Amino acid sequence: MSTPKPSLPVALVTGATGGLGCALVASLRERGHHVIAAAREPARLSPAAGVTPLQLDVTDAQQIEAALPVLRAAGVGVVINNAGLNLGEGLVACRDEHAALRELQVNFLGPMRLLRGIVPALQARGGGTIVNVLSVLALAPLPLCGSYAASKAAAHSMTQALRAELRPSNIRVVGVYPGAMDTAMAADFAGAKDSPLVVADAIVAALGNGHDEVFPGAAAGLGALWRADPKALERLLCGTPEASQ
Ligand SMILES: NC(=O)c1ccc[n+]([C@@H]2O[C@H](COP(=O)([O-])OP(=O)(O)OC[C@H]3O[C@@H](n4cnc5c(N)ncnc54)[C@H](OP(=O)(O)O)[C@@H]3O)[C@@H](O)[C@H]2O)c1
Repeated sequence: MSTPKPSLPVALVTGATGGLGCALVASLRERGHHVIAAAREPARLSPAAGVTPLQLDVTDAQQIEAALPVLRAAGVGVVINNAGLNLGEGLVACRDEHAALRELQVNFLGPMRLLRGIVPALQARGGGTIVNVLSVLALAPLPLCGSYAASKAAAHSMTQALRAELRPSNIRVVGVYPGAMDTAMAADFAGAKDSPLVVADAIVAALGNGHDEVFPGAAAGLGALWRADPKALERLLCGTPEASQ
């Protein structure tokens, strides 16, 4: 494991207790970034050199306010909005009537509030990088988790708008669109899944390669399909017949 390199920006990862969050912390440390690992329950994080744990529920405005001075003092230059929630609910056939709101709070409104708080510090540093972990479902939904897909679509739109809004401040905004990943979130998904380590490495590589849309691992094919024909991705994921185009 390499020691943090002072020349590399400090990176914040939200949802650091999760499958991809853990892999991101490891990959960033490997590259020499100091990492602030934010979690609802930081006691669950494994202590490691080059990693500072931070209490952060992204839906809790008071916790965001309390985290901001810590993030400013640490000189955070990379913000990775990784925390996510998928309750696996349809839009009409939902057992939890509050599912859509809870998913919106974790996947869209929380990251937006966090960014509103931290962006002035990035601007004061002369720039930085924001990475929003989205999903291919932001681009075309799976009907069985329609409200999750809608929340990721909102975050995708936020990503595009922020990219334009923050370009004059020298802040890059990267959207990441994984397919199924082998983490707790996709435990019930029976199909092929990417390793979170592969996805994390693709995200960390994007910090240096200038790409603003990342389709890691097996999502590369879905990204190519979406670019060529967005309706074809919808047909593939939703099983929509040709005639209903
Ligand atoms: N797994 C997939 O197939 C897949 C595919 C595409 C995109 N993604 C996205 O990838 C990202 C990482 O998910 P994952 O696959 O690693 O799932 P995961 O293992 O379930 O991890 C989710 C993480 O988000 C955290 N979280 C949930 N609500 C939070 C809140 N209110 N405040 C702060 N943290 C919160 C969880 O914290 P706790 O440990 O405290 O619950 C956990 O650390 C998510 O944005 C997800 O939507 C996943």
